[in-house]
Amino acid sequence: MLKCTEVSKRFGGLQALKKVDFTVNSNEIAGLVGPNGSGKSTLLNLISGVYKPDSGQIFFLDEDITKLPPYKICAKGITKTAQTVQSFPEMTAVENVLTSVLFNEKKSTGKIEALPRAQELLGFVGLSKEKFDLPAKNLNVVELRRVQLAKALATSPKLLLLDELLTGLTPTECDEAIELIKLINKQGVTILIVEHVMRVIMGLCDRVIVLHHGEKICEGTPKQVVNDENVVKVYLGKRFTLCEE
Ligand SMILES: Nc1ncnc2c1ncn2[C@@H]1O[C@H](COP(=O)(O)OP(=O)(O)OP(=O)(O)O)[C@@H](O)[C@H]1O
Ligand SMILES: [Mg+2]
Repeated sequence: MLKCTEVSKRFGGLQALKKVDFTVNSNEIAGLVGPNGSGKSTLLNLISGVYKPDSGQIFFLDEDITKLPPYKICAKGITKTAQTVQSFPEMTAVENVLTSVLFNEKKSTGKIEALPRAQELLGFVGLSKEKFDLPAKNLNVVELRRVQLAKALATSPKLLLLDELLTGLTPTECDEAIELIKLINKQGVTILIVEHVMRVIMGLCDRVIVLHHGEKICEGTPKQVVNDENVVKVYLGKRFTLCEE
């Protein structure tokens, strides 16, 4: 579904990504992990068009999307939730989602009842009903993440990029979020998730890619990746492998 070939990105003197080859297959849940600063968010920002690569190409459903602006990439079916939660703070939760429903409406030929759709999506992602009409600035970060996910789903993505969406959740909320992501995937949405909590990666992903200093150092099933000597050395540490045993 998605193919990145030799994608590189430099910020001034810092090589954030170095010739990364990377694929996501239709209908899978792929995980992207690696230490802080290894280039995970940069890669998602390249795929979604927020940044442009210095070199390399990105193909989505066999079409070269490397040079397209974010809104065109989104309209083609790739949507991202940002690591740092973004919202329109003065607008209510439901109005925030409405912006995406209305953006999506452009793709639809029929008339869409935008408000019920926004409410339905907020219910689906588990925001309590009494929060629907509160300004986004009054919501906590976990609630804002739910709104962000509803906004992303409103664009009818084929490929959903999730950048640390589950950060800050309690273990119970985390388990609920894992089930929600599985459900979204079952509904036909391919998912690429960046996450530091390995329990989430292990419970969700069909395949995991590991970045380190902007380079892909490992790729495989979650089990293969957590047992890879180099991944343990540079990212997971000995304790994780002992815990899993
Ligand atoms: N807009 C930018 N301008 C300058 N440097 C940047 C920019 N975005 C990212 N970087 C740098 O690129 C490197 C990779 O950053 P990136 O955010 O992709 O890492 P990450 O793997 O997502 O890390 P984390 O796990 O902390 O979110 C870091 O050294 C970061 O400081
Ligand atoms: Mg990041």
